Amino acid sequence: MDISAGVDDAVVDPAALRRAFAAFATGVTVVTVGGRTPHGMTANAFTSVSLDPPLLLVCVDREAVMHRHLVAAGSFAVSVLAADQEHVARHFADRRRPLGAAQFDVVDWRPGRLTGAPLITGALASFECALWRDYEGGDHTIFVGRLLSAEKLHEEDAVLFLHGRFRQITPMPSGVVR
Ligand SMILES: Cc1cc2nc3c(=O)[nH]c(=O)nc-3n(C[C@H](O)[C@H](O)[C@H](O)COP(=O)(O)O)c2cc1C
Repeated sequence: MDISAGVDDAVVDPAALRRAFAAFATGVTVVTVGGRTPHGMTANAFTSVSLDPPLLLVCVDREAVMHRHLVAAGSFAVSVLAADQEHVARHFADRRRPLGAAQFDVVDWRPGRLTGAPLITGALASFECALWRDYEGGDHTIFVGRLLSAEKLHEEDAVLFLHGRFRQITPMPSGVVR
């Protein structure tokens, strides 16, 4: 197969590419950093990576305010949002929200014990990480975190993101996979 022949139109059209990527259903997280100017950002480009060593990754737009905060802090936290936290996801994706500590006034949170990064109350799980590696990923940077703490807090459903919309889980009648 000659792959030098070119690429499909959908790949060079950002809107078409975004639509195709959006067919992959994800959960929704808030990535946070602590310190004197804490910051939070909604992210669905989150993946567990490794158990040994324990690693996860998030992809952050190079233009996002979060990008420079995360590099400067050298540590971060991830809160996995529950089904009733769509408003939290919308808040931390809204470019008009206040910067610094004030952006956290509308949510309940506590500082992570090991990083000081805000952990969102009511999240299904939270993770604290030391920044382990970063990789260039085009207009994003792939930040890999080495886990310092991992807590599963609640059993409720997650909020989902699919085709550019927030969704709720509808369980399959076939039930549990073991
Ligand atoms: C559901 C959802 C998922 C998102 N996922 C990401 C992501 O993984 N990485 C990213 O850089 N931006 C992502 N964004 C966009 C940022 O949340 C948004 O641009 C935010 O305002 C950036 O904040 P900041 O520039 O203040 O750091 C997502 C937005 C939404 C609504």
